[in-house]
Amino acid sequence: MNYRESHKYAGKGAEYEAYYQTQAWERFLWSREQDIILRILKKYFGQTDVHLLDFACGTGRIAGFLENRVKTSTGVDVSGSMLAIAREKLKQTEIIRADITTDEVLTGRKFNLITAFRFFLNAEPQLRCEAIQALVGLLAEDGYFVFNNHHNLGSPWIKLLDVCHRRRNPEGIFNVMSIDQMEKLVEGAGMEIVEIYPVGFFHPPKVPVSYRLNLAIDRVACTLRFLSRFSESPIAVCRRRKNQTRNASVSRD
Ligand SMILES: C[S@@+](CC[C@H](N)C(=O)[O-])C[C@H]1O[C@@H](n2cnc3c(N)ncnc32)[C@H](O)[C@@H]1O
Repeated sequence: MNYRESHKYAGKGAEYEAYYQTQAWERFLWSREQDIILRILKKYFGQTDVHLLDFACGTGRIAGFLENRVKTSTGVDVSGSMLAIAREKLKQTEIIRADITTDEVLTGRKFNLITAFRFFLNAEPQLRCEAIQALVGLLAEDGYFVFNNHHNLGSPWIKLLDVCHRRRNPEGIFNVMSIDQMEKLVEGAGMEIVEIYPVGFFHPPKVPVSYRLNLAIDRVACTLRFLSRFSESPIAVCRRRKNQTRNASVSRD
């Protein structure tokens, strides 16, 4: 099944919600992501009004966290099942069911913050390119694009899982993405990564680790920026490439 279709079946939205409520590691990652999203808002937007587009918003995890903290909030997704949960949860978000790679529902609009969580890793290469091209067209000139990669190949645990998975099931799918691939993805759309926030360091397969221990390890590891490449689920902050912006303004003059 292709990724566009993968979240459309009845019950997928409820399953996804339950997953985040019951899985300790996912809950831990989500708490770290919330902390980092707040840091990004403070650092990159300060007092500026934020106009948010949460791409592939699913059940509204990111938009739900942000909608009271931004001026306007819009969520877009192709799955009715996921959006049914989002509609129950979100109070101040315009929810649009569409595929922005094919439907021109947002044409002419600009957003200074575009988020895309848990999308690019699992999207097929062509969908990745089509989606990021569509998103950069919706990004305000001085806006930021924030996305994550929840199976970073630089993480020792993900590397181990990848090797085990390929040995056990060479035909199966276990998607991984490296930081270099994240960089190439955004560069292909005329953007650059300005900062990477590491998330999730200590995730030995099948060994339960307490929330407190994980938090302590993550906090220490995050102070050492060179460790970013080894975290499991890094978050990248991107903007239009500087020379592109300059070229664009030169050509307008
Ligand atoms: C794993 S969910 C992530 C949901 C949410 N961003 C989060 O982090 O909780 C991925 C979402 O991507 C959506 N999706 C897949 N292809 C899409 C497309 N072409 N346009 C918009 N959404 C798409 C799916 O329907 C699904 O809801």
